[in-house]
Amino acid sequence: MKYNFKNDYTKGCHPNILTALAESNFTVEEGYGADTYSLAAAKLITDKMEHPSAAVYFVSGGTQANLLVISALLRPYESVIAAETAHIQVHETGAIEATGHRIQTVNTADGKLRVQDIQDKLDLFEEVHTTMPRMVYISNSTEVGTFYTKDELKALSAYCKEKGLLLFLDGARLASGLMAKNSGLTLKDLGVYTDVFYIGGTKTGALLGEAIVINNQSLQQNFKYNIKQRGALLAKGRLLGIQFLELFKDDLFFKLGDHANQAAQKLHQGIKALGYAFLTETQTNQSFPIFPNEVIAKINQDYAFYVWKKIDDQFSAVRLVTCWATDFNAVDEFIKDLTLVTPPVKDKEKNALSGAIEIVDYQPKYNASFRALNEEWISNYFKMEAKDYESLDQPEAYILAKGGHIKVALFNNEPVGVCALIKLTNHAYDYELAKMAVSPKVQGKNIGYLLGQAIVEKAKSLGATTLYLESNTILKPAINLYHKLGFERVEGHTSPYERSDIQMLLHLK
Ligand SMILES: Cc1ncc(COP(=O)(O)O)c(C=O)c1O
Repeated sequence: MKYNFKNDYTKGCHPNILTALAESNFTVEEGYGADTYSLAAAKLITDKMEHPSAAVYFVSGGTQANLLVISALLRPYESVIAAETAHIQVHETGAIEATGHRIQTVNTADGKLRVQDIQDKLDLFEEVHTTMPRMVYISNSTEVGTFYTKDELKALSAYCKEKGLLLFLDGARLASGLMAKNSGLTLKDLGVYTDVFYIGGTKTGALLGEAIVINNQSLQQNFKYNIKQRGALLAKGRLLGIQFLELFKDDLFFKLGDHANQAAQKLHQGIKALGYAFLTETQTNQSFPIFPNEVIAKINQDYAFYVWKKIDDQFSAVRLVTCWATDFNAVDEFIKDLTLVTPPVKDKEKNALSGAIEIVDYQPKYNASFRALNEEWISNYFKMEAKDYESLDQPEAYILAKGGHIKVALFNNEPVGVCALIKLTNHAYDYELAKMAVSPKVQGKNIGYLLGQAIVEKAKSLGATTLYLESNTILKPAINLYHKLGFERVEGHTSPYERSDIQMLLHLK
């Protein structure tokens, strides 16, 4: 195996930590976190936060930190709101549920919670009969590699305060989240905008360890009892203190986070230059390129990584994680080896690799393409109807001016696909996905899926709860694509189009 991109804990620890552990080996210290190293590390962290009244507790792992915080701060009947992709929901073996608390999950496009998502959950609360939402759990960076900006965190914080909700930020990958380009968020901000958060050491150069920081003084009382009762208070707490002292000395923690992000960017640029598309933009230390399955099989012989998500029968997205210790030469070598197993350009087109695919917002210069691409497939299978002409001739007036949107897929800067989001009025549903067209010249490149995903995300960002569409069952690949996007057939609706014999619906909340 040449390199392991599976996760950010494949190596031991930063050499400064090993040295500090060795040098302190024979010093005699108090146990259970009362040692001089832990006290100094906690002070260093609260000094950096400029928050002397914050309390710091060192524990050994992320799942443990989540379970300790959530179980200590919630009453038995209270629940926590989190993204459907949240670590506590998908990768902690029910650790939170085992403490008796429900996780109320929100389906998100990018792993991030927004005020509206929380509001929707609060709207479902029924006095006495449902659990009472009391905490909002977010992670930075998120499970899918996205991050919160300062403004986003500020908005969540203000809303949580207004509604009496506790805001908890899981920082297992905090270094990477804070060092993301344009994040604008600092450790000090976390002291201001969250009630509690934790700083991940395990994934950022420590052998192990997370530092839970409780900002809100009213929540600090007796927290330590909870740590001890759940078996998480280490007698040799010094091991954690020494490591965090090293991480926060000279800002090593932030430098290591930056290193991991830079390695991910290098990986992203190299993969992009080979013409591959990504599930999401690489923003932190996780990258999600989409490869043909044969390429995955070949590259997997020399490199370890997880296959993250099946896109269709030919393509899957993989997850490549870089870390504080990723050697840039390993990234270069991966790109070199990927180049060797990437089909040549001619086959690349045939094999439906993506070229430089970009999904962009509609501009007037795409007007003719919007019409031509739709007319091409409609005339091929059916006939153009009066209603087609309305929206295809004047998308600005019939779609955009009425609160809709159009996304355009560019392949090597040429418009090759389009899809519209139409605002529905006097209808059971909020928006309609319509006028999806992809040029036959570029079919098989996954462009329909990328366009569909972009429209679904747009609808979500507009607060839509339902997305509707009309189609025809002879268009089998299209129907399969809609299923893949999560749409399901609905009955009982009539269509203004003669050609429509199936209606489908996607619930966004
Ligand atoms: C966001 C997040 N939280 C918590 C954890 C859990 O950490 P641990 O494996 O140390 O329990 C992880 C680990 O992958 C994580 O990514």
